[in-house]
Amino acid sequence: MITTENAKPRVGIDPAKAPDPVLSDRPFDPSHYWDKDFWKQEWDKVWTRTWQIAAMTNQFKNPGDFVTLEFGHEVILAIMGTDGEIRCFYNVCQHRGMMLVTEEVGSAPSKRLTCPYHAWSWDVNGILKTVPDEPNFDKSLNCRDKHLVPIRTEFWGGFVWFNMDNNCQPLRESLEPVADHLDVYPMEEMVRTLWVTIEGDFNWKLVQDNFNESYHVFHAHPQLKYVAEFAYRYSQFDMYPSGHARMLMPGGAPSRTVKGGEDEIIRQLGEHMQFWGLNPDDFRGRMHELREALQRQKRLLGAEKGYDYSRFDDSMLTDNWHYTLFPNLSLSLKPDGNIWLRARPHPTDPEKCYFDMWYLNWFPKGQERYYSPTLRDWVDMATPAPHQIGKAGDYSMGPTIDQDVAIWGAQQKALHSRGYKMEILAGQEARVRYFHDNLEKWINRP
Ligand code: FES
Ligand SMILES: [Fe+2]
Repeated sequence: MITTENAKPRVGIDPAKAPDPVLSDRPFDPSHYWDKDFWKQEWDKVWTRTWQIAAMTNQFKNPGDFVTLEFGHEVILAIMGTDGEIRCFYNVCQHRGMMLVTEEVGSAPSKRLTCPYHAWSWDVNGILKTVPDEPNFDKSLNCRDKHLVPIRTEFWGGFVWFNMDNNCQPLRESLEPVADHLDVYPMEEMVRTLWVTIEGDFNWKLVQDNFNESYHVFHAHPQLKYVAEFAYRYSQFDMYPSGHARMLMPGGAPSRTVKGGEDEIIRQLGEHMQFWGLNPDDFRGRMHELREALQRQKRLLGAEKGYDYSRFDDSMLTDNWHYTLFPNLSLSLKPDGNIWLRARPHPTDPEKCYFDMWYLNWFPKGQERYYSPTLRDWVDMATPAPHQIGKAGDYSMGPTIDQDVAIWGAQQKALHSRGYKMEILAGQEARVRYFHDNLEKWINRP
């Protein structure tokens, strides 16, 4: 637990603005969104060297429980060993390269991983157990030593992380200061209530570019101005030496730029207001007072509704704390949970990626349903969320993310145009520049 000097649990997240880094003015090469050579460099220098999330720790209850993750052309196998440790391995048979586990989630029968091809088998700690017709293999081949190939595995925030580079920085160090900030949330207690993956026709960087700026919000997400302060002069943007970034965007009330629109505000926030004991009609003519009113009500009624806000400061009760982690993860923290967004490299095509959205909820305690203002719906917490996998448009990720997804597909096509030369960035898009500067730094590392 994170404590202050006098050993009281810390409350709130440090809102101090990080010193701005020196940014380059080098244009991004549009071909980096489709060029196979650049894509290969990203694999060698970025994907195989950065910490990535394989699974949630709460997906593992017993030895043998496993989760696999398709990641570029690799499939990562995370499995709980007989000692209760979760370890990641390359999901490949050492005999002739068959995929060892083909399901996404499951439990190894009799705590054994048996290859579907010629039935070599390993225990759930990755140790080789059986080789059919073993005397038929020449002794010099040392079959007995062919254990599964482990991948460095560490844990933070209720997630199982892996890094294919054995010499990488320790996870916690690589996540700073984000891990330190987010430790005030009950990260380990999160329940995944939405799990959607789409195969998108766009390069993964378009996703991270998008989540690194809020300039697009006023036009691409016109509904958001009624529930959040999108205007850049009222938000704060931070860029950290680790390559990660943050945006603080006030929420729980309409933007100061909004005049009127009361019916729309009530349509979007009315049920949330009522949940917290506020009558939407009382706020007609004073909608901008809603943020503070919601903060007061949550303090007042939080405990009785099963919401432990004791480590939240007032801004965390209404605002959006949005973190973009280099290279490909965004955590958008809302008062009741966390929108978890990630673009994963596609196995064969730079102009495609897998885009994952999870909604992770941590409230309310002891209840089976909760009202999510983000999804604007009641959500079941008792049944594990099924994994919905499809093409862009097959499943909804909520109105806002659906709007983003529709943009990336069209942007990927247009980037090829002879009529497009280079990006022109606003000050509030500095995190996009910073992301590309960091990408270049990683690509140029020996
Ligand atoms: S490829 Fe796995 S046992 Fe032959
Ligand atoms: Fe967006």
